Amino acid sequence: MAPYIHPSILAADFANLEQEVLRIGEADLVHVDVMDNHFVPNLTFGLGTVERLAEVSPVPLDVHLMIEDPDRWAPDYASAGAASVTFHVEAAADAVATARAIRARGARAGIALKPGTPAEPWLDRLAEFDLVLVMTVEPGFGGQSFLDGMMPKLALVAAAAEREGRDLRLQVDGGISTATIGIAARHGADTFVAGSSVFGSTDPGKAIRALRTAASR
Ligand code: DX5
Ligand code: ZN
Repeated sequence: MAPYIHPSILAADFANLEQEVLRIGEADLVHVDVMDNHFVPNLTFGLGTVERLAEVSPVPLDVHLMIEDPDRWAPDYASAGAASVTFHVEAAADAVATARAIRARGARAGIALKPGTPAEPWLDRLAEFDLVLVMTVEPGFGGQSFLDGMMPKLALVAAAAEREGRDLRLQVDGGISTATIGIAARHGADTFVAGSSVFGSTDPGKAIRALRTAASR
């Protein structure tokens, strides 16, 4: 049940990913930021890492693809064992076809919108997707400040999803902490990615519980 908390392992110890995912057993999903150093100026994990993480993680994976040509690669992340695969519409040639291919391989399909990308073109196609990710920072790096200017876009997607009566997850990613999660929740988000505020804590379980409480306030 909402709020769903997805800690991002971008803020975890890359040399100990298995131990790191074992520390966040209370999370709903584990957020895995895949970056290719082309779509964003940073490089992280690929298919092989996701495949092994899916095997060892007690919590299912939420893959966030920040890569070029997601049409080619996104379905393979579903086959690698991710429960949810989200790709950026700015990089996709055919977002609807790619979402259908992800679903055909048994995962939930999400689209992500960078801060400068409008939501309007997607509002009449929400039935094709299981999740919309409204980025609250420029994608690429953890530890940035939450952009509260994204709240009108979030509210717009939330209203469209409600009109359709769809069980669409509305995710925010970037700068989420106990100080910012409430404002995103009030504008319709139900799924919250948190990197530094969870893995930067000495007790990640406690940080997850604090986020849940703050989101519901
Ligand atoms: C940024 C990534 C985020 C990142 C968030 O491009 O998509 O998932 O890990 O990190 P924090 O929570 O530190 O802003
Ligand atoms: Zn992310």
